[in-house]
Amino acid sequence: MGERIKRITVPAIRAMKGSSRIAMLTGYDYPTAKALDAAGTDIILVGDSLGMVVLGYPDTLSVTMDDMLHHTRAVARGVERSLVVGDMPWLSYHVSHEETILNAGAFIRAGAQAVKIEGGKPARIATVAALRDAEIPVMGHVGLTPQSFHALGGFRLQGKGSDEAKRLIDEATALSEAGCFALVLECVPAELAAFITERIAIPTIGIGAGPACDGQVLVLHDLLGLYDGHTPKFVRQYAHLRVEMEKAIRGYIDDVREGKFPDVGSESFHVGGDEELKRLYATVLESPADPSKE
Ligand code: KIV
Repeated sequence: MGERIKRITVPAIRAMKGSSRIAMLTGYDYPTAKALDAAGTDIILVGDSLGMVVLGYPDTLSVTMDDMLHHTRAVARGVERSLVVGDMPWLSYHVSHEETILNAGAFIRAGAQAVKIEGGKPARIATVAALRDAEIPVMGHVGLTPQSFHALGGFRLQGKGSDEAKRLIDEATALSEAGCFALVLECVPAELAAFITERIAIPTIGIGAGPACDGQVLVLHDLLGLYDGHTPKFVRQYAHLRVEMEKAIRGYIDDVREGKFPDVGSESFHVGGDEELKRLYATVLESPADPSKE
């Protein structure tokens, strides 16, 4: 019997605070989930960023529960080890606790082990407590929260001045105390992220938040160079797959047009030793079936 792979759990992620750095990435489908899992990613976030990088929407506000559950199921089917977190889309956790719990439960039934919600206002703290009471682990997310980009006035660094920094420290502390198991800090000064990381009991996972966080997250398509939209300053591209992809597709198109694909030997099937079939095909090839074409 093969060795059983040990699944990463929510308590295991919490226990990584102060001992080892957490590597989190987004993932949206079965083949990339398999690659993320095999490479050793601790957490795969089925992020609502899929709206832009996979579905071609203009922003995350267009993403629905149906979109998210469809992709969460695909990711869950490809994972053996990583922790899968489902990103709750805009309006799926804003209306009532009852609706929030049912929507979060749908993520768990789709194969996620936890959900992520954005924001740290008092209403959101109460939502975290309601999810915790329903036994659904929650990851928080403060700083630049893309679902509130209208309210924030765009995508920009958060927590610059002392009032904003204090508000973020208070929100992070409240989310930790309300029961989040980890907290994403997006687009905040490195000093503020270090301060919050030092101060709260749960792991912080930074994106554009400097190196002092307990872990880091990037959008997979940014890291792979697969998305040709805007790439923020904090992204490090480890590959340029969009270019590679186009090169491969052009290669195929050229080969088809020049009659170089498929190869008659290595890429085609043949009738083998069936003499009767060979005679039949030879007849067809010698005499066209449609006499009008003669
Ligand atoms: O949706 C997403 O990809 C995210 C990460 C950037 C944290 O929320």
